[in-house]
Amino acid sequence: MAIHVGVIGLGRMGQIHARNIAENVPDATLYAACSYVDEELELAKREFGVKETYKNYEDMIANTNLDAVVIVSPSGLHTEHIRIAMQKGLHVFCEKPIGLDSEDIKKTIEVINSRPNQVFQLGFMRRYDESYQYAKKLVDEGTIGELTLIRCYGIDPSSGLESFVNFAKNSRSGGLFADMSIHDIDLVRWFTGKEIKRVWAIGKNAAYPILDKLGELETGAAMMQLEDKTMAILVAGRNAAHGYHVETELIGTKGMLRVAQQPEKNLVTIFNNEGVVRPTSQNFPERFHDAFIREMKEFISCIKEGRQPEVTAYDGLLGTIVADACQKSVETNSIVVID
Ligand code: NAI
Repeated sequence: MAIHVGVIGLGRMGQIHARNIAENVPDATLYAACSYVDEELELAKREFGVKETYKNYEDMIANTNLDAVVIVSPSGLHTEHIRIAMQKGLHVFCEKPIGLDSEDIKKTIEVINSRPNQVFQLGFMRRYDESYQYAKKLVDEGTIGELTLIRCYGIDPSSGLESFVNFAKNSRSGGLFADMSIHDIDLVRWFTGKEIKRVWAIGKNAAYPILDKLGELETGAAMMQLEDKTMAILVAGRNAAHGYHVETELIGTKGMLRVAQQPEKNLVTIFNNEGVVRPTSQNFPERFHDAFIREMKEFISCIKEGRQPEVTAYDGLLGTIVADACQKSVETNSIVVID
């Protein structure tokens, strides 16, 4: 029988998950949706065939027809929404970050751990991207030897700035490191299997003064040392003129790997009066289109097969702790040690 899913949040990301559940995950039915915004609820009925819509989350999950919820509400609401759904006996998929406050996340993990028969999955979708999975396999097989340094770029396109400003005005993003670098922090932990122990982070706003008013950074950089002295350098930003720039480099004792050396759209190269041009992915829905579908298929498979996914709530906690350390490092201009 199909798993009945309710989605909370139908904004930029919520609509992607809603469409995937409705159209691309065969064993799932998008049964209900919740949002503050009337037009989004209308769209959910019209485009995704949702049967029931709600403005209040607790009303939605009181519906006994639901098996699972997909939480795509603003980041500051995730932990509360996870706890309520877990306590109702539902399986939970939650977008990143799991939360913005580590003590609150720890309380939430206690609730998750007290219900081992319910699936909990966190939206670290890069782990479901085929290129990252291939790179991970090569690293695990020792192809590039022992890792010494990981360099990550995660920069949103300048064209997305307006929508980000609206997002940041209406809800807490958690800052550049919790909102953007969290994916790279997870990749560093995933590739190495080691914890990050010291960080030094800095940032600058240049092109968009409005980000100063919102307490947000346009570009930030963090240097990290892991427990075994492996190094990581993370660059995050909101202002890539050429598109959505996600790139990862892994340097090992026997070689080097790059994922998306140029963040290419596809295999096409254009030769014209602008020179030799490689089109780039323009945004996260385009670059991670398949990964979003694969992570949702994994969530539904876990429910059907009675198992937990590889990515855990603990990974979410560690992501937030490291992102917080980066933010603190920017604010205090000092190296922050993570216990
Ligand atoms: P958004 O601002 O576009 O949408 C938020 C949605 O939540 C709206 O539909 C709003 O009506 C709804 N909402 C807000 N408070 C609510 C409440 N109390 N009850 C019911 N509905 C409520 O936000 P966006 O960009 O879609 O982000 C949502 C989450 O997805 C964030 O946590 C963000 O970090 C994450 N995200 C993850 C991405 C990834 O790469 N995995 C990419 C973009 C966002």
